[in-house]
Amino acid sequence: MFIKTQIADITFDNCLMNAAGVYCMTKEELEQIVASQAATFVTKTATLQSRPGNPEPRYRDVGLNSINSMGLPNLGLDYYLDLLTNDPHQEQRFLSISPMNADDTPTLFSKIKQHDFKGFVELNLSCPNIPGKAQIAYDFDQTQRILDQVFDLYQGKLGVKLPPYFDQAHFDQMASILNQYPLTFINSINSLGNGIMIDDLSMMIAPKQGFGGIGGPCIKPWALANVHAFYQRLKPEIQIIGTGGVTCGRDVFEHILCGASMVQVGTLLHQKGPQVFERLIQELKDEMATYGYQTLADFKGKVQYL
Ligand code: DHB
Repeated sequence: MFIKTQIADITFDNCLMNAAGVYCMTKEELEQIVASQAATFVTKTATLQSRPGNPEPRYRDVGLNSINSMGLPNLGLDYYLDLLTNDPHQEQRFLSISPMNADDTPTLFSKIKQHDFKGFVELNLSCPNIPGKAQIAYDFDQTQRILDQVFDLYQGKLGVKLPPYFDQAHFDQMASILNQYPLTFINSINSLGNGIMIDDLSMMIAPKQGFGGIGGPCIKPWALANVHAFYQRLKPEIQIIGTGGVTCGRDVFEHILCGASMVQVGTLLHQKGPQVFERLIQELKDEMATYGYQTLADFKGKVQYL
């Protein structure tokens, strides 16, 4: 059975990796992903300057789900570029980045070019946790302006990390914007922004008076819907990374059935550690065997309609 997958011209041994934010802040954490069965990694979303992030507590596991308002703590773009450009597999790696304002964008990309980074850039348009800042990809005009600016500056392999959309008209509008650009991939979905979870009489996290991004199995229906909505609408050159709600191999299988080429794991990875990839891969293979599928291409995007 073959669970290899491909994004652009790069082949991966399997379709699993971490989601940005989990096991990816430091070199030591990323080395644990490399040592695991995951095919590759994405870095913590990097900003131009390092950031301490929001006050703690800022992440809580709540049953199988999670809430976070990290506030983009990261070691700064230079740290991740140094690490990636010394990685013998840099072509397979994903660098997540986020501009903090429009002025950052040219500098971010000129640094990426200076380092001659050959991997994938995941431009994060969906962080819900910076006090006072909206999620960029909920503003269609701003998204278009950023993509115009980015593709003027950068011709490497680039994708965007999107927030969940909840309306068919928004799928249509966002897909028609994305289809105007030579994007390599999209990643759907980021956490469901601005939920609250309560413990006794209190919010579970401190920043933003308790409002944070929700991850885990409770978001899977919207993750699958966004993956499939974009699979139906995007030009075939733009591949889809499915993220959201994976707890077992069946969930990975469903992401692929909805059209994902690669699947990322966030909350579960935080809870179980990088050894969880071994179980997910075995369960994915078991699920494929049940249906007699030999490769991911046998069922990618082939969810049936009643
Ligand atoms: C953070 C959270 C996100 O969902 C994201 O996409 C980027 C950063 C954070 O709070 O650090």
